[in-house]
Amino acid sequence: MTVQTIGKSLPRVDARGKVTGSSPYSGDLSMPGMLHMKMLFAGRPHARILSIDTSKAEAAPGVVAVYTAKDVPVNEYGLQWQDQPVLCGPGSAKPGADVVRFVGDQVAVVVANTEAQAASAVKLIEVEYADLPVVIDAEEAMKPGATRIHEHIGDSNICVHYKIRRGNVDEAFQYSDVIVESEYRTPVQEHAYLQPEAGLAYIDEAGLITIECGGQWTHEDQHQVAHALGMPDEKIRVVYPAIGGAFGGREDMSVQIALALAAWKLQRPVRIIWSRQESMIGHGKRHATVIRAKWGATSNGKVNAIENVIIGDGGAYMYTSNKVLGNSAITSTGPYFIPNAKTDVYGVYTNNVPGAAFRGFGAPQALFMAEMQMDKLAEKLGMDPVKFRLKNALRDGDPLGVGTPSPSPVSVVQCIEAARDRFGWEDGKWKGKHGTSHLRRGRGFAAGFKNIGFSFGYQENCWAKIELHGATKIERVVLYHSGAEVGQGAHTVMMQMAAEAIGVPFEKVNLVASDTVKTGNSGSVSASRMTFMSGNAIRGAAELALKKWEAEERPAIAEYKYLAPLTTQFDHDTGYSTPNFAYAFVAQAAEVEVDTETGHVRVIRIVSADDLGKPINPALVEGQIEGAVVQAQGYTLLEDYKTKNGRVLTDQFSTYLIPTVWDIPEKVESVILEIPDPNGPWGARGVGELPYLAVAPAIASAIHDATGVWIDEFPFTPERVLRALGKIL
Ligand code: MOS
Repeated sequence: MTVQTIGKSLPRVDARGKVTGSSPYSGDLSMPGMLHMKMLFAGRPHARILSIDTSKAEAAPGVVAVYTAKDVPVNEYGLQWQDQPVLCGPGSAKPGADVVRFVGDQVAVVVANTEAQAASAVKLIEVEYADLPVVIDAEEAMKPGATRIHEHIGDSNICVHYKIRRGNVDEAFQYSDVIVESEYRTPVQEHAYLQPEAGLAYIDEAGLITIECGGQWTHEDQHQVAHALGMPDEKIRVVYPAIGGAFGGREDMSVQIALALAAWKLQRPVRIIWSRQESMIGHGKRHATVIRAKWGATSNGKVNAIENVIIGDGGAYMYTSNKVLGNSAITSTGPYFIPNAKTDVYGVYTNNVPGAAFRGFGAPQALFMAEMQMDKLAEKLGMDPVKFRLKNALRDGDPLGVGTPSPSPVSVVQCIEAARDRFGWEDGKWKGKHGTSHLRRGRGFAAGFKNIGFSFGYQENCWAKIELHGATKIERVVLYHSGAEVGQGAHTVMMQMAAEAIGVPFEKVNLVASDTVKTGNSGSVSASRMTFMSGNAIRGAAELALKKWEAEERPAIAEYKYLAPLTTQFDHDTGYSTPNFAYAFVAQAAEVEVDTETGHVRVIRIVSADDLGKPINPALVEGQIEGAVVQAQGYTLLEDYKTKNGRVLTDQFSTYLIPTVWDIPEKVESVILEIPDPNGPWGARGVGELPYLAVAPAIASAIHDATGVWIDEFPFTPERVLRALGKIL
């Protein structure tokens, strides 16, 4: 039986429930006898807690319990390094747990009969702090003698350092006919997902401590909660209800451990819902970076040497900084063949809100630099920036900065050509063609690439189970998978792939998802990996289940764990490695209008050409492209995260502005390329992050085209644009 399901724009399986409001998100959950939790946040960026007095809070009306550091069995957690206390303060065995390192550090939790009672009691907790010097500038933090953020970790605040070394940069620059040197600054970005952190924890029928809370990786959440409670993983159950967006911001823990602690100690259901303000100080952000770059090219239009220093503000804890900045190292060459390359990437502890995973995962920062450098070189050489890119673009077999070629087909040339043709890019920019009005139009072009999957030597894996029910023919397929549906459409895509692999109509497929009791470990919805990884797991399970079906087993049940091709870690001194099993490529073009009187930048049109191998559901792919472009446009033009001495000034949507329907580009055009990945399911790679990558440099380039100025720091707010134009001081 052949029923083709993939490649079709089927409606999302979660659409109806979400649109009608019937799907429960974690903040909607409730149980009989449920208690309510409120957290006490540090509210100061760096201090030692000398004492905590909870007696008044404990005596307050309705209060059932107050927990502090002394109540947490193993007072530490973290996705990469366990460097963060669950609750900061004295009384736990964790060295350094008595220090708060950013405003969102959690100090105590109150559990009460009502949310209002918990909120009033939190204010009665008396904490005696001894303030410590506040370190907010990553470059200051790197200096010898800087105040240490973690006295017990390493010998400085530098917590990540990667090196790329290829060829001989110093010698090669002598042959460069043009050299461009610049310093770039890229901003923090808040994930701004619709649903703030919330969760419900309780003891289930089997006696497991159960946490229902949105996340990106059920089994990793389970493991981190178990570690902090000093329990085996099997005692903890994690279930994902509907999740209102993630974008990387739910990779790290927020409320889960405190909820589990309270539910376990009290043996009662406990719920918490963070306010937007709590969410904005309480979870990590996109890393701010300072990047110094020197790039040289020869007069025949070839980049011959590059040298970069990238400094990422890691904030108070590691989170995933080591992985994020690894991607910055890989993408610091842009999608180009660079014979001589030297890049140093540093991650630095500071007292800022932690730098965390965020769509693009270190690539947007490095690519902003790379693409700006490419544009400036093209300008100096008098070459069309698109032709210049094509001349330097990676080809199959060319080594990346890490010294080995991409395992996936290198399709940057095809992406550049596709974006160029759809956009109608003519030779040269528009400079001088846009009249003398204060409204100046400009066009910009940029390209990028990114890995698919968590790799760097980690054996990427993904689990799926398939049950085939029926007698003579397959009546019903049940797919078990733990991959999270965070709003991207993953569950629909998985079910489409299961239908295709089994050869049944889509309607026959049911999904059991994201429950550590019912599903194995399918890994994180991160790194654009879920379509690639789940598709391979589903195909493996389907093949085995079909064999059992043919052998007359009823129901036919099979599970399968897909193992992706092996990868290697960076060589410490040179970066030499095969750090990923797949890469995807993108090219984007932007047309903007700059009002030179107000400094306002309007995005008229974006073309995004993304090679994702194979669109399993084209409408969902377009949704990813449009969503990513809008999110990246917010990053580029609007989202102006401000802090003062480590305190977040823009901790609400009245001060931290994200695009509304009035701000988004008038037109986003998706060009989907289908150059199959040899290891991808039906050739698919992934698309979650790809269309985010080159938007900022494409807009920056268009602003330059419109106005003649390069602005090396964004967001390109009206104020910053006017200053660059020399209209204000
Ligand atoms: Mo992501 S930014 O790899 O969740």
